[in-house]
Amino acid sequence: MSSVLTATHLQKTYRTPDTVLTAVKDVSLSIDRGEVLAFLGPNGAGKTTTIKMIAGLIQPDNGSVLVNGYNPHADTRAFASIGAVLEGNRNLYWRLTPEENLSYFGVLRGLSPKVARQRGRELLDRFELSHKRKSVVQQLSRGMQQKVAIAVALVHDPALLLLDEPTLGLDVEATETVKRLIREVVAEGKGILLTTHQLDVAEDLSDRTAIINQGEIVAEKATAELIKEFSGTAYHIQLAEPLDDLKNDLDCITKLNYLGITIAPQPDNQRITIEDPNQLYAVLDILNPRTIESLTRDKATLTDVFLALTRKT
Ligand SMILES: Nc1ncnc2c1ncn2[C@@H]1O[C@H](COP(=O)(O)OP(=O)(O)OP(=O)(O)O)[C@@H](O)[C@H]1O
Ligand SMILES: [Mg+2]
Repeated sequence: MSSVLTATHLQKTYRTPDTVLTAVKDVSLSIDRGEVLAFLGPNGAGKTTTIKMIAGLIQPDNGSVLVNGYNPHADTRAFASIGAVLEGNRNLYWRLTPEENLSYFGVLRGLSPKVARQRGRELLDRFELSHKRKSVVQQLSRGMQQKVAIAVALVHDPALLLLDEPTLGLDVEATETVKRLIREVVAEGKGILLTTHQLDVAEDLSDRTAIINQGEIVAEKATAELIKEFSGTAYHIQLAEPLDDLKNDLDCITKLNYLGITIAPQPDNQRITIEDPNQLYAVLDILNPRTIESLTRDKATLTDVFLALTRKT
């Protein structure tokens, strides 16, 4: 079995003295080794609640979780397979150094002090943090703190890594570094659940995407397939020179109009949109021998998919 996570029909209701809120209604997810699942959804959709149930931190009202075959709510052996960077700043001890955090959490997760120290050193080296190993975490930059948090989550070499908004608040370079680290960790064969509102990051990194809206999964598919499904079929041709209806182009414009092809109005009338892909070659014949700057096809982004699936009705 290559599945590192199987979560089935998770459900969680929060009860406070005056409210009852079902944050997670029905969530089933699975992740294989060497796979990144982007777990996306609007604010309040239930992502963090789901992640906490997977990590064994809050008890689901219904449903089950298996991590590497173990149930984190019943069998402590599951914790050896789970690494998590949760939302917010509570993943590290701020008054300890990166080195101390790694040793502390390594031992907490079952490593001997010696192995924890050694793993910690390796991770700090790999995350380019060795020069900061003796500074208290509080004094590190946001990006460095985030890298330490990921290192700590990996100290016991878990099979499943849960990352709840790992690039939140990071600058472009730090985001690229975290993305590179995620790719490396996946290449080692770990499974990653990645939650982020930076949909370009999700699009870059994920093999599959699950979208949650109001506590329910509304789509779950290979990311490329999902994007393809939401992509249009129209072509766009950009000509090097605008068509001129007073000069030699009159005949060409008439023929395009006859086919019902859209030509952008002045001053941008070198852009032609072909809604019916079957008309592409007919249009190219009409345009021949004019220079074509670019020919593109409508392609959705994960943002388009996300907005279409989570639009409030
Ligand atoms: N401890 C709690 N007690 C009561 N309600 C809670 C608690 N934690 C979360 N909620 C509610 O559950 C819903 C889902 O919250 P959750 O944090 O899982 O969303 P999320 O998808 O992670 O959102 P975001 O993108 O903003 O991080 C929200 O309406 C939230 O207010
Ligand atoms: Mg959250």
